Amino acid sequence: MNSDNQPAVPMIDSLLTLTHRPRRLRRNASTLSMVQENYLTPQQLIAPVFVKSGAGEPEPIGAMPGVFRWSMDDLLNECRDLYELGIRAVALFPCTPKEVKTPLGDYAIDPDGIVPQTTRKLKEALPDLNVIVDLALDPYTSHGHDGILDPTGAWVDNDLTVNRLAQMAVVYANAGADWVAPSDMMDGRVGVIRKALDQNGHEHVAILAYSAKFASAYYGPFREAIGSGAAVGKNYLDKRSYQLNPANRREAIRDALMDEAEGADILMVKPAGPFLDIIRDLRESTRLPVAAYQVSGEYAQIKAAAQLEWLDYRKARDESLIAIRRAGADLILTYFAKEWAQENA
Ligand code: PBG
Repeated sequence: MNSDNQPAVPMIDSLLTLTHRPRRLRRNASTLSMVQENYLTPQQLIAPVFVKSGAGEPEPIGAMPGVFRWSMDDLLNECRDLYELGIRAVALFPCTPKEVKTPLGDYAIDPDGIVPQTTRKLKEALPDLNVIVDLALDPYTSHGHDGILDPTGAWVDNDLTVNRLAQMAVVYANAGADWVAPSDMMDGRVGVIRKALDQNGHEHVAILAYSAKFASAYYGPFREAIGSGAAVGKNYLDKRSYQLNPANRREAIRDALMDEAEGADILMVKPAGPFLDIIRDLRESTRLPVAAYQVSGEYAQIKAAAQLEWLDYRKARDESLIAIRRAGADLILTYFAKEWAQENA
């Protein structure tokens, strides 16, 4: 006992005889940079972009600070910037006016609709930028679902919807789209889209399939952006009868491998951050490139926490992106694409 009646600190000779000291390779920045396993480049990023009809100022989107709905002309300038920053593809989403929405989503196949028009413009001005168009009916239906409802109004009719998606694919390919991206989760759509494209002379148009797309709460800000939630007065339209149950892993891989068998060129997992295990599983189950979509809610989360100064913005952002690469994604769709490319130019 010492004078404070505390037990004396015992002396211990070092008991460690370490052969392996992993910290040797973390000793300084040079060493750390030499053993880094995963990297991100602008070519691996795909920027989702929103186009609105008509002219006018870019419109900010509430829960997505820094993301805008662009007029066609402004979008062209935005895409030129993206291309110059090394980004090689944009995923185009339309914000369609309420007036054109119908129960069957007819505007989706109008050759002079906003997506075909924008695609033609982009391809003319920036032929080397890949234009990816989304195939799903949600921007065009009055009810906001990705497909056509059956007479009960409670079920999306799979086969009718697949036909309509195939028509869309041909209309958009005619306008010059490089890749089509079915995001609807109907059964059998990849095979039918492939056949329809081939029959119409578009055998070089690739299919980026939203293969493992979950029924997620993280799509809320996107639905505000394209106005697809508003039709029913809420942002969390229930899509559980076609999108995957977030509790399911085997089912996700099964569905994705069906897309591969039907002729998909790239398989996508969506959302990304909450589903890193699915990205890894899929990476190990296929030899196709795997893409992951870091969705609007994932972006909003990081932005919001940073605005409150609760997180270091850049570090949280970059960690979210490298984690998706580490999980096994070759390509990442992300709303951070432009600023990441700017900062890492
Ligand atoms: C629907 C579609 C959605 C997104 C892209 N295409 C959401 C939905 O299922 O309502 C979400 C993208 C995002 O949240 O960033 N076809």
